[in-house]
Amino acid sequence: MSKEFNVAIAGATGAVGVEMLKTLEKRHFPVKNLKLLASARSAGKTATFRGETVVIEEMTPDSFKGVDIALFSAGSDISREYRKFVVDAGAVMIDNSSAFRMDDDVPLVVPEVNPEDVARHHGVIANPNCTTAIMLVAVAPLHRAKKLRRLIASTYQAASGAGAKGMAELIEQTRQVLNGEPIAPKAFAHRIAFNLIPHIDSFMDNGYTKEELKMVNESRKMLHCPDLPISCTSVRIPALRAHSESLNLEFAEDITPDEARAILSASPGVQVVDDPAAKRYPMPVDATEKYDVLVGRIRQDISRSDRRGLEMFVSGDQLLKGAALNAVQIAELL
Ligand code: A2P
Repeated sequence: MSKEFNVAIAGATGAVGVEMLKTLEKRHFPVKNLKLLASARSAGKTATFRGETVVIEEMTPDSFKGVDIALFSAGSDISREYRKFVVDAGAVMIDNSSAFRMDDDVPLVVPEVNPEDVARHHGVIANPNCTTAIMLVAVAPLHRAKKLRRLIASTYQAASGAGAKGMAELIEQTRQVLNGEPIAPKAFAHRIAFNLIPHIDSFMDNGYTKEELKMVNESRKMLHCPDLPISCTSVRIPALRAHSESLNLEFAEDITPDEARAILSASPGVQVVDDPAAKRYPMPVDATEKYDVLVGRIRQDISRSDRRGLEMFVSGDQLLKGAALNAVQIAELL
């Protein structure tokens, strides 16, 4: 008989936690026992897993006895607070928060990019920033073939990046604006309905946001290129749950759009959607609830006189490849 695992989801009621539950079921992950953990506010609520009702429990330091794999998506503070309890219980923590991503003893993994790094774990494996994971699924195969030299990203990030409350705020605010009612932004710094906000996470001294620097630092770590020149501008847009990114890539070797399409078509986790004449290109509504990252608008960068630059556009489900799916894929690697 194949091995089965006792799995816990910490933050099971959140936007990502709910998708983790669905992804475990959809991918037939060999779950023996499942524990759903959240705050005291949710204790006693229920969810369904493989047709059975599971009661949500309040997470406490004792929650991890007998657990093999703990999928965490309850925010950085909770991850920091619970790391010791999880590791002491002998479980492996797969953490969706940013708490440990840049720690030297914590592998940061996208299975299509650097699966080999999982083996170096000491009880904690980090799931990357959602926008970074989506980007690297598309960029890593090109990097392996032609060696990336520089990367400039502009992102178009959905409300789901701010969790269930972000999605609820976009829907509610859209209704309020259409009805001429007053609005009160909470999950975002400004109104998000019929707007966009070039500000995700806090600003740093160099004028970049923390979100933008996650793209820089986490990409360098996962590609094993500590000095790779990368820059990013991250923008929140009123899409519900898939993130999109405009990418300008410079390589060490020549690469044509046809070559890039051929490489990407053969890469796991990627779907090439690139037929502008038929109006086919990646869009957040099409990436929603898909496991694959959509890649299109692939073209030679005309600002250069050589063939070493490419432009492309990607869309990926922030809650799936950007979070829940990637975490479950890491569990599968284990
Ligand atoms: P709860 O629903 O009980 O507040 P999101 O990112 O969508 O906002 O979700 C955050 C997740 O983290 C939710 O499942 C939330 O549970 C959970 N959470 C928040 N605070 C705690 C806590 N102190 N202990 C356990 N889980 C928590």
